[in-house]
Amino acid sequence: MSKSISGFSKLSKSEKINWIVSKYLSSSEAAKNTIEQYFNDDKKLQKLHDEFIENTITNYYLPLGVAPNFLINGKTYAIPMAIEESSVVAAASKAAKFWMDRGGFKTEVISTTKIGQVHFIYKGDFEALQSFFNTVKPKLIKATKPITKNMEKRGGGILDIELRNKTKDINGYYQLHATFETLDAMGANFINSCLEQFAKTFKTEAESDLNSSIEIIMSILSNYVPDCLVRAEVSCKVEDLAEKNIDPKRFAEKFVQAVNIAEVEPYRAVTHNKGIMNGIDAVVLATGNDFRAVEAGVHAYASRKGKYSSLTHAKVENGIFTFWMEIPLALGTVGGLTSLHPLVKIALDILNKPTAKELMQIVAVAGLAQNFAALRSLTTTGIQEGHMKMHLMNILNQFEANEEEKKTIVNHFKTNIVTHSAVVEQIEKLRQ
Ligand code: MEV
Repeated sequence: MSKSISGFSKLSKSEKINWIVSKYLSSSEAAKNTIEQYFNDDKKLQKLHDEFIENTITNYYLPLGVAPNFLINGKTYAIPMAIEESSVVAAASKAAKFWMDRGGFKTEVISTTKIGQVHFIYKGDFEALQSFFNTVKPKLIKATKPITKNMEKRGGGILDIELRNKTKDINGYYQLHATFETLDAMGANFINSCLEQFAKTFKTEAESDLNSSIEIIMSILSNYVPDCLVRAEVSCKVEDLAEKNIDPKRFAEKFVQAVNIAEVEPYRAVTHNKGIMNGIDAVVLATGNDFRAVEAGVHAYASRKGKYSSLTHAKVENGIFTFWMEIPLALGTVGGLTSLHPLVKIALDILNKPTAKELMQIVAVAGLAQNFAALRSLTTTGIQEGHMKMHLMNILNQFEANEEEKKTIVNHFKTNIVTHSAVVEQIEKLRQ
């Protein structure tokens, strides 16, 4: 029985489901039911989701949670988070509350420049290319006017185009390295359209004005945006870090040491930054932004000095504890999914319809809060205490515990340590 097919995309949705169930799911009725159970009753809404991607067979849910009590530059936010991992939203909420009582988060957008490149090969004389570029540059910009007109009206557009010589890396390799301001749009389509127009004009003009030919390899934005940078910070007197069972001085010292370890030790830095991304991705996803682009750019930034390192930093100076992060975030609050996905609209409404700059600050705060919560647990109780408490419900659901069983077991673990085997033991005991 062949498991390959041609023309799959042309099948109707139910034909696609039937095909996948018969070829890959042993014709299981239960599997088919599960797939169909996730359809939305509202046909229009379902169609909208079907058309986000190709070959859609059903919807894939992630929970959308809210972490309230974030005080950012004196304004209070409830932050929407879409994520599958238990304890992340609770940790964010806890850190938010902690810092709300200590002055809140301070943030600042440092820069908002985005980048795109036309990669090409040219085997002729460099001086000739440089002088050709100087004359053709205004033409490149002029040729994109139909694309940039609206963006320019709003104050954005192309900032500059440079010719970069990369022949040390690859024989004959050059770039048109362009910078953009895309305001409230993430700007991927805008940038790529400009770049493709640059490439076209550049090639055409080169055919008449340059002795050697150029070959365009590709034109594409870069998701590495070290100049689209936001800073988030918290600080307070060391003694104000006091909480029950926590000696503030010792806590501050251990916390700074934990950050220092992540600064020098890549094995730790990756997990440390993963925790930051728990907060960042969840808000990026809830607000309909491209979390893969953010992930790629953030990790490249974390390695910018040649070694993968912590995104956050911490210090104690003159009795003041300061914890901060600078992070590149290319985000949009218009275009893309933001006006299409009803829940994205809700998420942006919860955030009071932020500009892209405001969203950069909110997202950075979610990351910093997440890292604070993780490091506080790691350097005090250990991560498992809180994590397993939150994970308890997942284990109970795996065992299809009913409401009564859940109540009894949750009660039991208020005073006992949660481990997978301890939960299973309790379930078995209860069911005997
Ligand atoms: C788990 O999702 C994230 C943590 O491992 C982050 C960290 O170790 O800092 C808790």
